[in-house]
Amino acid sequence: MRVLLTGGAGYIGSHTAVVLLEEGHDVAVLDDLSNSHVEALNRVEQLTGKSIDFLEGDLADAQLVQRYFDENNFDAVIHLAGLKAVGESVEQPTRYYQTNLSTTLTLLDAMRKSDVQRLVFSSSATVYGDPQSPLISEEHPVGAGIQNPYGWSKLMNEQIIRDTARAWPELSVVNLRYFNPVGAHSSGRIGEDPSGIPNNLMPFISQVAVGKRLQLAVFGQDYDTRDGTGVRDYIHVMDLAEGHVAALAKTTPGVETYNLGTGTGTSVLEAVQTFEHVSGKQIPYEVKARREGDLATVIADSHRAGEKLGWQTSRTFEDACRDAWKWQVQNPDGYGPSR
Ligand code: WQD
Repeated sequence: MRVLLTGGAGYIGSHTAVVLLEEGHDVAVLDDLSNSHVEALNRVEQLTGKSIDFLEGDLADAQLVQRYFDENNFDAVIHLAGLKAVGESVEQPTRYYQTNLSTTLTLLDAMRKSDVQRLVFSSSATVYGDPQSPLISEEHPVGAGIQNPYGWSKLMNEQIIRDTARAWPELSVVNLRYFNPVGAHSSGRIGEDPSGIPNNLMPFISQVAVGKRLQLAVFGQDYDTRDGTGVRDYIHVMDLAEGHVAALAKTTPGVETYNLGTGTGTSVLEAVQTFEHVSGKQIPYEVKARREGDLATVIADSHRAGEKLGWQTSRTFEDACRDAWKWQVQNPDGYGPSR
């Protein structure tokens, strides 16, 4: 298939592009490079020996997007573009709603005008708000307790897509709720390259290990968990990428929603210990106050994706640490400047 990856130069996008190309799909990327690097796409081309059509542009620009659809016969879209920093979304709510909603609205209009009927959407476990159970299935209620505009924008996008599918019966959507993506391609040539101080645990640990950061702040050790620190479901980004390609093959009219996670939880201190073992480096840390909005335990029940998509994770958290460390050592400053 000819697949458009919106936000395809980003962390999830670049890894998904590798799997798509290796499966024989044609890949086009639309990305504004506001939080990504064109170098990531150059490396994907080197890794796969395949070329990617790339257009730098704003997905909210309806004229640009419609022209791009007119020039290409896309068979499907994997929609990854959007702002994704939870803390930043609390400080800049209108920017997050404006960006994350207008891009989806513009994309859906262009898809309908060009009759592109297949969509895989990047949603997030954040839509579950404050989980009522440590293991979260797709039937878990959504909305209650969402603490930030980022999470609300994901849930609003899910609703926009559901309503669009009701008005356009041929639209076939798979909605993927990610848990915590981590790791990098095993080559170390592509990986996670957060701009500025990392919000997320794993890139921060990796930067401490390589000497870019002095120590890790552990946000709370008084949670109701086995060692008092936050427990999350860390899924290897290559398993996540493979989940997108499996979803693409299984789109049917209407909207199907799947969790993408491993079903196992890792605490902050366990993550530190695993990374120290893999890297051979000490990760100094200091326990600080809890981060506002953080939850104790968030773990996916992703049996449904296994049953319906024929998708399973095959990589461990230790694999993710090993691959992330290889990326970090080979690219201490990430991809460098964004152009
Ligand atoms: C993980 C654990 C922290 C940093 C967020 C988004 C989610 C998704 C992934 C986009 C928690 C602790 C963290 C640090 C720490 N993003 N921590 N020190 O918050 O589970 O999920 O990122 O889709 O939508 O909500 O991930 O990596 O920020 O935190 O102690 O410097 O690590 O308290 O327990 P989170 P995270």
